Amino acid sequence: MSGIILPGADGQLFQRDRDWHPKADTPGYKSTTFRAPRHSLLSLGPTQSEMTGPTFGHEKLGALDNDLIRNFSQDGTDAIGQRMVVYGQVLDENARPVPNTLVEYWQANAGGRYRHKKEGYIAALDPNFGGFGRSITDENGFYHFRTIKPGAYPWPNTGNDWRPAHIHFSVFGHAFAQRLITQMYFEGDPMIWQCPIVATINDKAAIDQLTARLDRLNTTPMDALCYRFDIVLRGRRSTMFENKLEGN
Ligand SMILES: [Fe+2]
Repeated sequence: MSGIILPGADGQLFQRDRDWHPKADTPGYKSTTFRAPRHSLLSLGPTQSEMTGPTFGHEKLGALDNDLIRNFSQDGTDAIGQRMVVYGQVLDENARPVPNTLVEYWQANAGGRYRHKKEGYIAALDPNFGGFGRSITDENGFYHFRTIKPGAYPWPNTGNDWRPAHIHFSVFGHAFAQRLITQMYFEGDPMIWQCPIVATINDKAAIDQLTARLDRLNTTPMDALCYRFDIVLRGRRSTMFENKLEGN
């Protein structure tokens, strides 16, 4: 988006807040210094094939794609961990639902370990947990999936930093070239405020928007907790996306 001011639903204008997104180089999160751009950014328009290429549809989803408790199970038993349902609505800047959008999510297991060959944490793998799933939003913009609560994990930033429990999200637009990525945290987690990555975000309201709310009324009795996490694609109340440096 190249304009500075976005039109609202009733002619109201949304001013872009350029402080919403962290600066590209934030030394407390050490690796940003190595990958932050050193030159002015170039704007590249979308190519024809990007805009007209195939998109992902409902028919491509498997029955267990939104069930991380079962979608990687090797022996038919459930993944280990605190069971929960995560759901939410994908919205545009005027709070209109965004239907038929591919939402992907990935996370560590209950011990805080990823199933990845470069994972360096000693926590045990769960043979029945893969850590990845996907949904397509329904006609009202809602997605939902079943999973277990991920554990916190350490990372070698300054020697002894820890990430709060979190789930990574990706949302696709009208084409695969349009992809936004963010992270979801859990309400009430004290680790959020000690995380060097979270600390790169200047605005507490932006951090609050990345924090899922416990939805006590929608818990499943004797089965699963429930958390709600809405995603706002742009505008003044936009979710903070990791790869959207322009801020809207
Ligand atoms: Fe992570």
